[in-house]
Amino acid sequence: MATPFLLLLLLLYPFTSSAAIIATEFLYPNFTATVINYVDNAGVFLNSRNATFKAAIYNPGQQSKHYYLTLLHGPTNTPVWSANHNSPIPDHGLVNLSPVGLSVAHPNGSLLWSTPPLPSPVRALRLLDTGNLLLVDASNATLWQSFDHPTDTLLSGQPLRAGSSLRSPVSDTNFSKGDYRLTITTSDAVMTWKESQLYYSISTDARYFKNSNADISFMVANSTGLYLLSTNQKVIFHVFLAASSFRIMKLDSAGRFQIISYSTANSSSSLNDRFVAPSGDCDLPFSCQTFGLCNSGANGTSCTCPALFATSKTGGCSPADGSLLASTCGDNSSISYLSPGSGIIYFANKFLMPITVGQDISACQSLCSGNCSCVAFVYKSSSRSCYALEHQLGSVFYSKEGETASGIMNVKTLLSGSPQPISGESTSRHLIPILLPSIVVFLLIIVVIFMGIIWWMRQRLRKSGPSIRRSKSTVMKEIQLGRQKSKTTVAAAGAKRRSSGNHESDDDDDDISILGLPTRFTYAELEAATWNFSTKIGSGGFGAVYKGKLPDETLVAVKKIGNIGLQGKKEFCTEIAVIGNIHHVNLVRLRGFCAEGTKRLLVYEYMSRGSLDRSLFGVGPVLEWQERIDIAIGAARGLAYLHTGCEHKIIHCDVKPENILLDERGQARIGDFGLAKLLGPEQSGLFTTMRGTRGYLAPEWLTNSAISDRTDVYSFGMVLLELVRGRKNRSVGPSEGESGSAGWSESTGSGGSGRRYFPMVALEAHEQGRYGELADPRLEGRAAVAEVERLVRVALCCLHEEPGLRPAMGSVVAMLEGTAEVGEPRVDSLNFLKLYGRGFAEPAGNGYFFGPGGYNIGSVCGTATATSSGSPSYLSSQQVSGPR
Ligand SMILES: *[C@@H]1O[C@H](CO)[C@@H](O)[C@H](O)[C@H]1NC(C)=O
Ligand SMILES: *[C@@H]1O[C@H](CO)[C@@H](O)[C@H](O)[C@H]1NC(C)=O
Ligand SMILES: *[C@@H]1O[C@H](CO)[C@@H](O)[C@H](O)[C@H]1NC(C)=O
Ligand SMILES: *[C@@H]1O[C@H](CO)[C@@H](O)[C@H](O)[C@H]1NC(C)=O
Ligand SMILES: *[C@@H]1O[C@H](CO)[C@@H](O)[C@H](O)[C@H]1NC(C)=O
Ligand SMILES: *[C@@H]1O[C@H](CO)[C@@H](O)[C@H](O)[C@H]1NC(C)=O
Ligand SMILES: *[C@@H]1O[C@H](CO)[C@@H](O)[C@H](O)[C@H]1NC(C)=O
Ligand SMILES: *[C@@H]1O[C@H](CO)[C@@H](O)[C@H](O)[C@H]1NC(C)=O
Ligand SMILES: *[C@@H]1O[C@H](CO)[C@@H](O)[C@H](O)[C@H]1NC(C)=O
Ligand SMILES: *[C@@H]1O[C@H](CO)[C@@H](O)[C@H](O)[C@H]1NC(C)=O
Repeated sequence: MATPFLLLLLLLYPFTSSAAIIATEFLYPNFTATVINYVDNAGVFLNSRNATFKAAIYNPGQQSKHYYLTLLHGPTNTPVWSANHNSPIPDHGLVNLSPVGLSVAHPNGSLLWSTPPLPSPVRALRLLDTGNLLLVDASNATLWQSFDHPTDTLLSGQPLRAGSSLRSPVSDTNFSKGDYRLTITTSDAVMTWKESQLYYSISTDARYFKNSNADISFMVANSTGLYLLSTNQKVIFHVFLAASSFRIMKLDSAGRFQIISYSTANSSSSLNDRFVAPSGDCDLPFSCQTFGLCNSGANGTSCTCPALFATSKTGGCSPADGSLLASTCGDNSSISYLSPGSGIIYFANKFLMPITVGQDISACQSLCSGNCSCVAFVYKSSSRSCYALEHQLGSVFYSKEGETASGIMNVKTLLSGSPQPISGESTSRHLIPILLPSIVVFLLIIVVIFMGIIWWMRQRLRKSGPSIRRSKSTVMKEIQLGRQKSKTTVAAAGAKRRSSGNHESDDDDDDISILGLPTRFTYAELEAATWNFSTKIGSGGFGAVYKGKLPDETLVAVKKIGNIGLQGKKEFCTEIAVIGNIHHVNLVRLRGFCAEGTKRLLVYEYMSRGSLDRSLFGVGPVLEWQERIDIAIGAARGLAYLHTGCEHKIIHCDVKPENILLDERGQARIGDFGLAKLLGPEQSGLFTTMRGTRGYLAPEWLTNSAISDRTDVYSFGMVLLELVRGRKNRSVGPSEGESGSAGWSESTGSGGSGRRYFPMVALEAHEQGRYGELADPRLEGRAAVAEVERLVRVALCCLHEEPGLRPAMGSVVAMLEGTAEVGEPRVDSLNFLKLYGRGFAEPAGNGYFFGPGGYNIGSVCGTATATSSGSPSYLSSQQVSGPR
């Protein structure tokens, strides 16, 4: 009786004794572990010196069936690497370290994973505090390291080399290879689904900046950002991330690449700042499964089915008529096509390459019918391009660009009863007989409901009278963005805010502490730095700008904001904190500020080459064509970042050459962003009289539509045309002297009738396909006609009267860089330029758009946070004393 028990004890003895010991940093051969001996430590058998990382036989999700040799980040227990990810071991599986290497084996002895043959015997296994697991030999040389064989995760300092990739896991509990891959190529970092379908690339992500054109050698993250570098460490692409000494970058099972930052490697909670690529869930290939329609809203994303499709039992959506989506090669006798309707685009639309161009939609359809790997096709009538989709269908979403830009999608279906008509613009009338009855019914229902509501409102009004009327008018006001607010409302709001400002200064605010405020200077410091404001280098709409030198020898531009109608110090600091935290190579960086008494100063980086208008319209050497293209791309990137790249969307509202500055390398940087918020109520009128503003204002300032990021796109389009031509678009008018460009005369003007409105000239030339003559004559033909055409077409797309038809700034960047197809300008939405050209009303910025009631610029221009803080800057036109 006692003997077997003793035997058992003896057998267990070595295991139970070793169970308590977790090695630190080094493990030496011969070493064998099963999860049984380390069960008390959750499988951990080796810690790095600071226990920042640990090596374990790990069962994700505690299912106790499938175990992986895994490296975990200690404080968060995040798996960052696994050895046998494709072949998990059961709980008796073995991890073995021998002089030959490291291996993982099934309990029956079959090898499931091992390190490759090594040149010399292993002296030790070493786990570093960086998360790197090494095999070293007797001379401490590294024989093998886990950093060279990443699975789904990269760590700070770990390079991912060109040609290698990260692979998503199947799920959080199954580490097998999933469907997504992030690959570094010599020119890009791309993400693919099911090996072939591209769905993301760094070169089309507006958050990244391209710094040079050399071949990429590897990608690596450090405390300042994520970088793609060449062999000699030159930065090719980079994105700045919030400063942090440790990051975990993971490709998750849905195909998202997420960068999670920690203040130190030992911290267990991450910083708020997360970088996710692609940035929207609807850009993921399978966010809503096969042909699901992804809708992104305030509450995240939701999935529905497109028209003519219904929820499928197997997930995703399938044709509502009972036919099947084509997925494999098979009987193709009963192929037909279903279109989900216009405006719905495939997740990978912007990465598809046309298979043919210049043929009609029926040719495109036959190509798809004749190829059994084709599961759907997209036809763009604007460019007559045909795109085929292969293998498996992913998700779709609503395009923001409209159907001419995105094309019409047709999905191949099989075994359907009656063939469906193909859907393109030309055949849409076939749908009328089907749709008409349902539309009529729908309209009837709407009318009935509407009548009901009106009746109900009348009843309520009769009962409770004034209260409901008041709330209705409030709604109206909100709809009109405060434009029609009466003078008294504005005055009241202004007074209220001023009093709150006074209240605040009573509190004494010199120790206002707001997270992320840039350096605060005293007035005396700035006075000394600018040699008592002696070197004036400009005068923007917000005040004069002086050159200065800080004690650390860096040159700065100090902007002295006029001292009338100031915001409260706290509001000012809140804005400064937001602006000061925006860093981008194409934005002028705020170095610091001063808020003392009524004095408000901003300290910016010094831009040695001044503003674009000086280089473009000035007397100096003519700006070369390539420089102009680089400036256009740089400025577009800067604006795209303001619109989408930072936490708070920022609408600039005053894009013009005067606000595009050039640094010593000639790189364009946008200045003066976010400043509209800093103006006090009396001062805001300055906004209207800024030089050059006239001519860049979008028509919606004049009409009643809302101001949005597309308002900046319009102004940018005007700047693009000026870059092409090298002169002001509008050269008539008393306020504009064209000092620098006097030596050359207009060649397109008809019969010497003076300078014509250039946007109109460009539109006419576009209609006639004569782009060559639009280039700046001073370039003497050094601009390729194809490139002039590209810029002009992009510019015209930006100028569409209907803001919704203008491309987003990110698309403008892609079109300028040539990574996206240039859209087709819609002449019907551009004809207003001809009106402007013939002298009809144009938003002129002098009394037109700031009516007596004032226009609430603060609520639309500048940062979005402050809008909700309840202290918008009301503008009025009472104060029109511009700076010059
Ligand atoms: C480890 O095992 C190998 C053979 O399996 C043996 O040759 C070697 O001597 C052992 N090393 C130690 C340090 O026990
Ligand atoms: C890491 O953090 C843990 C607790 O969070 C702490 O106990 C430990 O001392 C820290 N280690 C180092 C090296 O700072
Ligand atoms: C060990 O078990 C695995 C999985 O059950 C099996 O595939 C393999 O053939 C077995 N090997 C041997 C040598 O029995
Ligand atoms: C390990 O901890 C020590 C003491 O806290 C610290 O000084 C050192 O920087 C840490 N090393 C790493 C690699 O984190
Ligand atoms: C190898 O590294 C360890 C730890 O850093 C050190 O103790 C040892 O002396 C080194 N051996 C050689 C041969 O350099
Ligand atoms: C993990 O996923 C793969 C691929 O879908 C599947 O073949 C495998 O059985 C799964 N493994 C486990 C342990 O669930
Ligand atoms: C991060 O890496 C980039 C590229 O090599 C380099 O320019 C930058 O100085 C590094 N940052 C730090 C804090 O080391
Ligand atoms: C968002 O979610 C909240 C809470 O779940 C819900 O009350 C609200 O209706 C949702 N809004 C939308 C637009 O779906
Ligand atoms: C199916 O398509 C293939 C490939 O084009 C073609 O060769 C074949 O004739 C088609 N079969 C039928 C039944 O149309
Ligand atoms: C089918 O289409 C794919 C990709 O569009 C192409 O690679 C393949 O050659 C085509 N097959 C035939 C038979 O045309």
